[in-house]
Amino acid sequence: MRIETYRYDTVDSTNNIALQMARKGAPEGTCITARRQLKGRGRRGRVWFDSAGESVLMSIVFRPKIPLDRFHELSFVVSFAVAEHLRTCFGVEAVLKWPNDVLVRGMKIAGVLIEIEHATGAAIAGVGININQRELPPSLAQRATSVLLETSVEHDITRATETFARAIADEYERYIESGFKDIRARWLNNMWGLGKWAEVRLESETLVGMIAGLDKNGALLLRDGAGTVHTIHAADVVMLR
Ligand code: BTN
Repeated sequence: MRIETYRYDTVDSTNNIALQMARKGAPEGTCITARRQLKGRGRRGRVWFDSAGESVLMSIVFRPKIPLDRFHELSFVVSFAVAEHLRTCFGVEAVLKWPNDVLVRGMKIAGVLIEIEHATGAAIAGVGININQRELPPSLAQRATSVLLETSVEHDITRATETFARAIADEYERYIESGFKDIRARWLNNMWGLGKWAEVRLESETLVGMIAGLDKNGALLLRDGAGTVHTIHAADVVMLR
């Protein structure tokens, strides 16, 4: 997949620009990057914090020729590629938290937000990665980290962004060739919390159980104290200590 990058300084959200471009027909591989975002978005309506010039902030347009009900598989492809690239090229022990967070030592280092444009058949993969932060705001300090905090090594953000975009595109090509089964297996090998007890917060209830894996579509499997296995499609997972 060819990547065509459009670099911005300050934007509200790179996902918004990518969505607008996708609506106007931007091809697969269109990549929007920015030095900072004023309204960075996370999953479930949350805000994505960044400090200017210290993070990878990018959104890539995909147009996979797969049924719309499988587009969510992209979140596994993208989060896996980010974690793998962090491990192999940035020296951090990144693991994957369902559905698509990237953690180091239990703290968030990267997040992925997939937004699907049903009308145009496009999916936008928004990726935020903490790279050069020396410190994080007090509200995040216990829950988040950066490559610099983990390794004491600083990186050029433009170069880092390019290499992450390439790693994601390569993983995407592999997924298109090999299908979800392959990425699901590799994702599972790097899954945070497998076999551990966790609290799973759904829209209307909270479940407690052991993280038992992923079903064939990528839903989370949670075995409760009575042995019932719950299949969870959307939730926040909190590890119990
Ligand atoms: C999450 O962890 O909830 C997902 C965070 C995704 C953040 C990235 S930063 C680049 C892109 N633009 C956005 O507004 N969000 C994504």
